[in-house]
Amino acid sequence: MEVDRVGIVGIKDTLGRELREMRISVTDRCNFRCSYCMPLEQYEWIDRREILTFEEITRLAGLFLRSGVEEIRITGGEPLLRHGLDTLVSALAGLEGLRDLSLTTNASHLKNQAARLMRAGLRRINVSLDTIHPARFRALTKRDNLASVLEGLMTARLLGLAPIKINSVVQRGVNDDDILPLVDFARRNGFWLRFIEFMDVGNSNQWVSERMMSKREILEIIHARYPLEEAGRSDPSAPAVNYRYVDRGGDIGVIASVTEPFCIGCTRARLTADGRLVLCLFSDRSVDLKRLLRTGADDREILATIRSAWEARADRYSEERLEAMKAGEYEPGSRRKIEMISIGG
Ligand code: GTP
Ligand code: 5AD
Ligand code: SF4
Ligand code: SF4
Repeated sequence: MEVDRVGIVGIKDTLGRELREMRISVTDRCNFRCSYCMPLEQYEWIDRREILTFEEITRLAGLFLRSGVEEIRITGGEPLLRHGLDTLVSALAGLEGLRDLSLTTNASHLKNQAARLMRAGLRRINVSLDTIHPARFRALTKRDNLASVLEGLMTARLLGLAPIKINSVVQRGVNDDDILPLVDFARRNGFWLRFIEFMDVGNSNQWVSERMMSKREILEIIHARYPLEEAGRSDPSAPAVNYRYVDRGGDIGVIASVTEPFCIGCTRARLTADGRLVLCLFSDRSVDLKRLLRTGADDREILATIRSAWEARADRYSEERLEAMKAGEYEPGSRRKIEMISIGG
């Protein structure tokens, strides 16, 4: 344990990784049904009474900041389905010590909310979008509102949210032919674009390694049309490796958690909408902070719980998966994992 800023306690896990970023889910509801994220039949929605209030989230966020966190991402499910989200943004944006506040959204409700969110203090967003073809969009999300997503993106750009990063999960034989159309779309409109290797999140997303397009394969396709040069990670703990188009700059990246895992620099923790602290995207364990909040625990007790959870952390799931894949021993269903829809990536 190190005290590195006034009153801020930097804590390290068993592999020496500090707690630096929180990804806070504000709802597990989503209006889309992407099969790789949402296990339709098996999922049990969180009871509304169990969802943290904005006051509870803000209190915990303050305690995370005192534990060394500097960056907060709001996520879901689809966070814009949470009523009055701008009130939470405003409370979080006002917290002392927060260097970066961002939001991950599917953008379908962004058009009407972007201005309010910006007024509340949001400056940048990441948007999940795997295709710009309406029929493919319908097949992937089981919904028919690509138009509202595109309107959301354009409104956000017009209002000046920046950067706007598009995240696209690539599945071989499903949307690998969307790679270049997405690149053209992002280049034309000034969006950042990051391709994500399809991951075996949750317990029923039918992941098979053959369906995963690797970073190398994705880059080869782009490079053949638009030569790229590597620009590295924006920070050692960032999931994405960035590239620039040789012809005109611009930002593009790949998040290669399957073929080039980045657990060694993973400084992220997650908070579910019902107040459970989760220390790895692929974990099935959590620490129930809501129970502490609702049984009157004081700040010291909650801080100690966060600290001891982080100090005991040894998670490195993606590295273990790669080791097992190389040994021909990987069984995606062999461990229970939290569902992606309840931690929002
Ligand atoms: P920026 O700060 O905007 O660059 O965001 P980010 O790089 O943290 O990425 P973002 O929140 O947009 O995450 C994109 C996707 O990357 C997530 O939805 C996940 O699919 C994947 N991802 C992010 N963090 C992790 C992580 O810690 N582990 C793994 N395995 N995947 C991650
Ligand atoms: N593999 C990779 N990324 C995923 N996401 C959800 N499920 C998966 C998966 N199986 C990403 C979405 C979105 C974010 C919330 O999580 O693309 O950008
Ligand atoms: Fe799709 Fe994101 Fe909704 Fe999951 S949370 S179903 S990835 S839009
Ligand atoms: Fe972090 Fe777990 Fe992802 Fe590894 S697999 S980078 S430990 S969240």
